[in-house]
Amino acid sequence: MLVFAMTCVTALAVDQVAQLDLGKKLFTTQSVPACAMCHTLKDAGAKGVVGPALDELNPDAQRVVTALRNGIGQMPSYKERLSEAQIQALANYVAKVSSATK
Ligand code: HEC
Repeated sequence: MLVFAMTCVTALAVDQVAQLDLGKKLFTTQSVPACAMCHTLKDAGAKGVVGPALDELNPDAQRVVTALRNGIGQMPSYKERLSEAQIQALANYVAKVSSATK
């Protein structure tokens, strides 16, 4: 795990930071409706209570992608609202920061 983390930091630092940054922006304000309205996520300073608290759910990236593409329960699908790259950025961001707070 440590080796993996270090590889990311060195080889992919720029890409990763840019992608996480984009994911955070999408989460807090740039997706419509914004995820933060409905979800709690500590890293994003989000305190929504309509959907599950993502720090507790701790979804992996694939689970986030599925929810965003298809929608789930009261959550709308974002397939028509976000690009594939935006969905990936959000998924990586949510998976990473939700597991960090465990
Ligand atoms: C209108 C409120 C609302 C918005 C906006 C919203 N969600 Fe949700 N979300 C929900 C609800 C409600 C659930 C639980 C659905 C269920 O399990 O029936 C959920 C579930 C999820 C899940 C868990 C899926 C699973 O497999 O259990 C993830 C991950 C998620 N949302 C991420 C996001 C992200 C990322 C965004 C922003 C692009 C977002 N949500 C926007 C309400 C919302």
